[in-house]
Amino acid sequence: MTMTRSPIGQSTPRVDGPAKVTGTAQYTSDFHFPGMLYAVPVEATIANGRMVKLDTAAAEGMRGVRAVFRRGNIGKLFRSVLEPGFVGICDERRPPFEDDVVRYYGQFVALAVADTFEAAKAAADAVRVTYEADKPNVDTDLKPDDDPDVIATTYSQEHRLQSQRGDADGAFASAPIKLDQTYVTPTETHNPIELHATTAIWDGSMLTLYESTQGVVNLRSVLAQMLGVPKENVRVISKFLGSGFGGKLFPWTHSALAAAAARQLGKPIKLVVSRKMMFQSVGHRPRTQQRVRLGATFDGKLVSLQHDYVYDRSMLDAHHESCGEATPFHYSVPNLRVTFGRARRNVGAATDMRGPGAVPGLYATESAMNELADQLGIDPVKLRIINEPKLDEGLGVPFSSRHLLECFEHGAQKFGWSSRTPAVGSMKREGATLGWGMAGCAWVAARFSAEASVELRDDGTARVACATQDIGTGTYTNLAQLASHRTGVPLGKIEVALGDTLLPPGPLSGGSMATASVVPAVLAAADAVIASVLDIATVTPRSPFATRRREDLAFEDGRVFVKAEGASSGVSFADVLRRANLRLVSGSGRSEATFGDANPKLSTHSFGCHFVEVTWQPEIARLRVSRVVTVIDAGRILNPLAGRNQIEGAVVMGIGMALLEGTTYERRSGAPINSSLGDYLMAVNADVPPIDVHFLDYPDKEINELGARGIGEIGLAGFAAAVTAAVHHATGVRVRELPVKIEDLLG
Ligand code: MOS
Repeated sequence: MTMTRSPIGQSTPRVDGPAKVTGTAQYTSDFHFPGMLYAVPVEATIANGRMVKLDTAAAEGMRGVRAVFRRGNIGKLFRSVLEPGFVGICDERRPPFEDDVVRYYGQFVALAVADTFEAAKAAADAVRVTYEADKPNVDTDLKPDDDPDVIATTYSQEHRLQSQRGDADGAFASAPIKLDQTYVTPTETHNPIELHATTAIWDGSMLTLYESTQGVVNLRSVLAQMLGVPKENVRVISKFLGSGFGGKLFPWTHSALAAAAARQLGKPIKLVVSRKMMFQSVGHRPRTQQRVRLGATFDGKLVSLQHDYVYDRSMLDAHHESCGEATPFHYSVPNLRVTFGRARRNVGAATDMRGPGAVPGLYATESAMNELADQLGIDPVKLRIINEPKLDEGLGVPFSSRHLLECFEHGAQKFGWSSRTPAVGSMKREGATLGWGMAGCAWVAARFSAEASVELRDDGTARVACATQDIGTGTYTNLAQLASHRTGVPLGKIEVALGDTLLPPGPLSGGSMATASVVPAVLAAADAVIASVLDIATVTPRSPFATRRREDLAFEDGRVFVKAEGASSGVSFADVLRRANLRLVSGSGRSEATFGDANPKLSTHSFGCHFVEVTWQPEIARLRVSRVVTVIDAGRILNPLAGRNQIEGAVVMGIGMALLEGTTYERRSGAPINSSLGDYLMAVNADVPPIDVHFLDYPDKEINELGARGIGEIGLAGFAAAVTAAVHHATGVRVRELPVKIEDLLG
């Protein structure tokens, strides 16, 4: 089928852009309902201990206050479990108020509900809690707890011996060149501009939840279980999000609180999590401590790679930060061992944050490779070329599509890497010292299961529907592009429906997998509706094709025609429908999941590299990232405009990860003390130079017929290692604990 006007691969402005910039796009907290009440949670002010008294009398007597909920009057809340189809996922399984034990600072211990937000906040502040407090453990030095060899994590079983081949210890011991270093990444907090928010409305036994979530279908599953109702009774709506970065992948306790309180009071309830609460009770990237040992020959061939990492976790929960995810396949090395351990701390549940696992993991392993290159006196790009694998040596299967060396070549050329002089402090520009660094990156590519429907209508318009969501990444536009690609209906005549569990079940907006996941479903749905149109064309008495056989007809660019007579001879599908007196026909399609496949025939990942320049002015202790070239091999890029935007955003986050971000827990209270946008530093415009993004654009047909793998998280992977290498090149200081602080650089 030829696609003369396909928008696939064309830079396509967001179809939802006008709604956003004109303010008509409604975000979760923009919804208002008659009689709606406001809920504000009461946060624990200790991180370890138990509540011995909860005095709500003063709060309950305040003006406008409807109720103060606690264990005993909130109604029953149950636990949830995983369900088939990658739903039922939740990082904090304990329902709120289940017991009187406080395990982290900011744990919700009560909930004030009032006529206004201000009255609810005042009431929450007036609740008096008496605690028996123990000393919290927020120790930053991570020693693994005594866990079994195989552990159940949030959504998988994991072997603590994550990967092994050859004799890593023996080969390390006898290697002529050795490197043994430990790299630390701090707790990082998701700070999407849109706060977590829930509005819960019961209509009899039916619950509607307006949510800011990266997964409406999963949230329905968890909330239905927690409330003890059939999932058919719960509808979750999430039309527009101010992003999530993983923090909104899975439900948090505030959603259950809002739903339970609304059930008790019989009124709509809105609960918006505060920025401070965002640091406490809705997830974070856990702290990691990663020991990397490399053994190599004098000419740079790796002979041994050991990656042993520890991350912290909350007292009850089991988020897995898989820092070793990319380690087994990223380099060719005959002897390898990857292990992990966990250390319990009095902190809230950790969760996925953009590039979970691989992002801190590649920071460590790519940093080690950069240090090894310096130790050997080999260019870091060359060291990577020397150790490029021919296949995924961890799984023992070929890569579906890996063009990492071409990324290096392209990136080095665009950056001008060949003019780098390796000696520390040897490069200058306008009186400042330059540092150049680079690193490679990888991120898993897979599909979640997905269903979609495509409708064609008698006015020439189309509708595509899928219960996935657009977290700001461009999913509305992708769905429109896919439907247009197959049906020929122009983008402007396509309605996209997503973010609603009434629609065909769609994937999480996570793992950079939403796009890859919906491609087969939408294309199959379009094929199904086209087949129906052709059937209708042959059975409608007034159709020009009434005497034709179904197999003689074709559909192209929105037109039905007789194959032998060519496309110009046909009529539009709208014409076919009108003659049949049909308003619309609909088709549905499905994508099967590949994520979690234990024995894949091919290894599917995206790859890329970053080249980074920093500018160092020691006399004023000023360090800036001054230039970035990033090259990404992510299969076919469906929308280069949105794709570039994703990578630029990831690089901005990478600058923050390298130089600014980190959540600090105060030792006595266990509170995350920099819990505001003023105190938690993130990269802002002034920190960010122009970012030069390139895509290789090799379709990966293993993932879907268009060859689109997925982008977003890959742009953050490896970036911090390129920055710390550049910092070393400029200053001679090797920083192995992120973020790089100015005081690290002052001799
Ligand atoms: Mo991303 S951490 O999978 O939202």
